[in-house]
Amino acid sequence: MRSIRVEKYSLATANCKRTTHYHQNRVINKGVVLMDQSVIISLKDIVVDFDDEAVLNGLSLDIHDEEFVTLLGPSGCGKTTTLRVIGGFLAPKGGQVFFDGKDITALPPYKRPVNTVFQKYALFPHLNVYENVAFGLRLKKVEEKLIREQVLEMLELVGLKGFERRGTEQLSGGQQQRVAIARALVNRPKVLLLDEPLGALDLKLRKEMQIELKRIQQSLEITFVYVTHDQEEALTMSDTVVVMNKGVIQQIGSPQDIYNEPMNAFVADFIGESNIFEGMMPKDFLVEFAGQPFTCVDSGFAPNELVQVVVRPEDVQVVPSVAGQLTGVVKTTVFKGVHWEMIVEQGGNEWIIQSTVASQPGELIGMNVEPDMIHIMHRSDEELAYAEFRPEDPEEEEAEDAG
Ligand SMILES: Nc1ncnc2c1ncn2[C@@H]1O[C@H](COP(=O)(O)OP(=O)(O)OP(=O)(O)O)[C@@H](O)[C@H]1O
Ligand SMILES: [Mg+2]
Repeated sequence: MRSIRVEKYSLATANCKRTTHYHQNRVINKGVVLMDQSVIISLKDIVVDFDDEAVLNGLSLDIHDEEFVTLLGPSGCGKTTTLRVIGGFLAPKGGQVFFDGKDITALPPYKRPVNTVFQKYALFPHLNVYENVAFGLRLKKVEEKLIREQVLEMLELVGLKGFERRGTEQLSGGQQQRVAIARALVNRPKVLLLDEPLGALDLKLRKEMQIELKRIQQSLEITFVYVTHDQEEALTMSDTVVVMNKGVIQQIGSPQDIYNEPMNAFVADFIGESNIFEGMMPKDFLVEFAGQPFTCVDSGFAPNELVQVVVRPEDVQVVPSVAGQLTGVVKTTVFKGVHWEMIVEQGGNEWIIQSTVASQPGELIGMNVEPDMIHIMHRSDEELAYAEFRPEDPEEEEAEDAG
């Protein structure tokens, strides 16, 4: 299997309007492509059945050392199941799990260099903060002086210095979460598995903790495998996002890749809001959709191939109706804080458009879409064929050949 490309980004935020295009990102990030030897966990053809129904269907994934990887997908798609296979809590029916190149499929959880923060974390209610964090070290019979050093270091790391004597019931939700994370990290795992660890927190606290977690991961230089169904959370925190649906990986890529170049309609729809149209590619660099031909930047499709076309709401320019490639009638306009969101009816299609200028319901507007804002995808009935598909990357091929 080919390695996945890992790119280090500063914290990307999902709601900040993207300024660079996918192809530019590749150039910018040239030189930080990690090679195969940095793979720390490798899942090969993992099959898990529950009641004779395949929950993971031949799932393969490479996770790199010091990478922040997020498994993202709707409820029931197999995220927790994948994490349980990595942690050793669930034996797959087929396939193998490798750690640092060694097959650990048969290894029990406590022998794996992996720690887990579960979806429902449970602190020990009869122990104070200090003792909760110290618990794992005491089991290992670590010397008292070292325990003290390491517990205090972890509490400082998660911002709970001075909370040692507090009982767990005297902590807020976010503080309890930090204790759970400190308790997992104090064992110095090479890999930390986190299953929706912020799910119980309110929005503001969740956003703070997202940034905290990213900081902790970077300062400890360990691998995080993070599960969420919240796409914004995934885009904010991750080096690599793995989008899953029904136990099958739909796309692996950096947040920018996933957002800018969704591989199929499922990914486009799941990641942010999209206009998705049925279309056709008469020839290279020309696509027809919404009843019009448009110049695009894509090539390599069969003549007249049926495709799906994605246009992000913020990529539609609103212009006077006489100047538009398309015209449509505004149905609704809603203020969203940084922009207005409009639903526009155009030739039987409904468009969602985000604009800093409001048009009024009933108004006839023009709409333009630049060629590189048109994203062309193979038809969704070929989705399965594109599981784990990645665009060709000549730079990476070269690097692989050289190494
Ligand atoms: N122990 C089990 N027995 C039977 N079915 C199970 C079991 N555990 C999970 N499943 C099923 O496997 C599928 C995947 O479950 P999983 O917990 O991995 O989903 P998930 O992606 O983590 O979802 P969520 O976002 O809701 O946590 C679901 O359909 C679930 O009902
Ligand atoms: Mg789950």
